[in-house]
Amino acid sequence: MTPEQLLFTQGFGSRKMCASLVADGALTVNGSVITDNNITLTITAPDFNFEVEGANQTPPWPYREKAYVMLNKPLNFECSQKPKSHPSVYNLLANPLRTRTGGGLQSVGRLDHDTTGLLLFSDDGQFIHKMSSPKHHVPKVYDVTISEPISDEQIQKLLAGVVLADDPAPVRALACTRMDAPNKIHMTLAQGKYHQVKRMMAAVKSHVDALHRSQIGALKIPADLALGEWCWLSADELALAKLKTSSAA
Ligand code: URA
Repeated sequence: MTPEQLLFTQGFGSRKMCASLVADGALTVNGSVITDNNITLTITAPDFNFEVEGANQTPPWPYREKAYVMLNKPLNFECSQKPKSHPSVYNLLANPLRTRTGGGLQSVGRLDHDTTGLLLFSDDGQFIHKMSSPKHHVPKVYDVTISEPISDEQIQKLLAGVVLADDPAPVRALACTRMDAPNKIHMTLAQGKYHQVKRMMAAVKSHVDALHRSQIGALKIPADLALGEWCWLSADELALAKLKTSSAA
C-alpha cells in the first residue's frame, strides 16, 4: 500500500489530507521520513508502526487492518455518537480511531452513563455482531453495589431467574458471589438486555447504587488502565474477550 493509503485507512484524514501529510514530511516509518507517495510499503502486521507528526495520537501508531480497543469507561459518559445529557465515550478515543475508513470504531454494546468499566470498540462488523448477539452468550461480570446488604434469598432468586417487564421468559445470573462488603456482589450475565442489572436487582426489591463492568469473557481491565483511558487489545486479549467461560464470580 502507498503511504497515503496507509494514513487514509488508519484514520488520519481524507485522501487529500493524507497525501499532503506525506508530501510535507509528517510520516515516519522505521525511523525514516517518507515523502514519496509512489512507493509501496510492505505491511508486516502486527508490528508495523508509524509516526505522524502533529497528529493527536500517542506515537508510534500501529497499523491495524481491523481495530480492537478497550476503554475503562468513567462515570457520566454516554455510549452514543450523539449524546443527549453527557459527553460521548467516543470523545475519549484518539482521533484516528474515530475517523478510520468505514466510519470509525463502534462500541460493542453499551453501558449506562452511570456505569463504569470495560467497554470494547471495533470496526470489525462480524466481531461486534458476534459479541453483541444474545445467542453467543459471552459472559459479562459486573461489580454491583446496592443500597442495602443483599440476602441469600435474593441471591438465590437472581440465580434461579427473574421476570423483567419486556419478556415473560425469566433471565438468570450465571453466577452471583459476594464481594468484600455485605452490599456488594459480582454478578455474571450471559445477555445484555437494556438496564439488565438494574432491572434484575429491582426484581428482587433491591436498588443499584453503583455499577462497574469488570470482565467480558475472560478479559479483565488491565490494572494500569485508569478510568477514561483506552488501549489496543493484543491478540491474546482479543481471544480472552471471546471466551464463553468466565473464571470470575
Ligand atoms: N446493566 C445495567 O443495568 N446497566 C449497564 O450499564 C449494564 C448492565
